[in-house]
Amino acid sequence: VLVVLGRGVVAWDEPVVRADDLGLQRGDGLFETARLSAGRPVLLAGHLERMAAGAAALALAVPPDAEWHDAVTLALAEYGPHDGVLKLVCTRGPEGGTPVAFVQAFPAPALLARQRAEGVSALTLTLGLTSTAAAEAPWLLRGVKSLSYAVNLASLRAAAERGADDAIWVGSDGVVLEAPTANVVWVRGDEAVTPPAEIGLLRGITLGALRAGAATRGVRLVERPGTVDELRAADEVLLTSSIRGVCPVVRLDGAPVGSGAVGSVTASLRAAYEELCVSGP
Ligand SMILES: Cc1ncc(COP(=O)(O)O)c(C=O)c1O
Repeated sequence: VLVVLGRGVVAWDEPVVRADDLGLQRGDGLFETARLSAGRPVLLAGHLERMAAGAAALALAVPPDAEWHDAVTLALAEYGPHDGVLKLVCTRGPEGGTPVAFVQAFPAPALLARQRAEGVSALTLTLGLTSTAAAEAPWLLRGVKSLSYAVNLASLRAAAERGADDAIWVGSDGVVLEAPTANVVWVRGDEAVTPPAEIGLLRGITLGALRAGAATRGVRLVERPGTVDELRAADEVLLTSSIRGVCPVVRLDGAPVGSGAVGSVTASLRAAYEELCVSGP
């Protein structure tokens, strides 16, 4: 289902942006991807909040929340009570023109549920930037969910060419950053560690929700930077993102993570997020 703000429901294959839209030509715009659970958007308020922060970083006039809510309601009335993906997109529009905003609802690729269940292999790849680059150069837009995802996709292709399912970016100073479409958590002993968003990471909505879920399941989730050596020595590694949820990393840089099976902390966090999707906010 496709809903264009200001236009209503339009056919899925109907063109909605002009050839001179800067979102198309320069990747200048924002998007959000939220989980749909039985036709209900999961943690939509957090996604809208993050889009507002991105809008400030890009000086982009995104529509107000009320307009997004109306478009989402319209899209979901059409889509029905199904699981899937809810995507919100706002492009810059043509030079001097107005932004174009639309909402899509569609089924999630089956591969993601399989990866969530069985785990993935990942490869660490350098991002070629130190972990201080984001603070020194805010114009890099690290931590902004902009439409410029060609670097993220190229990283995933580089991992695939080397036989891995996913990538984990590491700073040129050896500090673990994030995956091209997920945040990273590793487990050592009784501690689950994730790097702070301040080093230039997307503020993951899934990770945010897990902070509360982890505590109730006896998992201590702490935020601090860590090195690639620490990551490789972890008992468990996992990736968090809205659609795939908590995804175990069972092989890292060609070696098994821990025992090579899905670990108990990962399984517990995975259950916490899936439960929240069914019954949570
Ligand atoms: C670069 C990056 N980091 C982290 C995430 C995870 O964010 P969320 O949990 O909000 O889906 C994503 C999601 O696509 C991402 O693209």
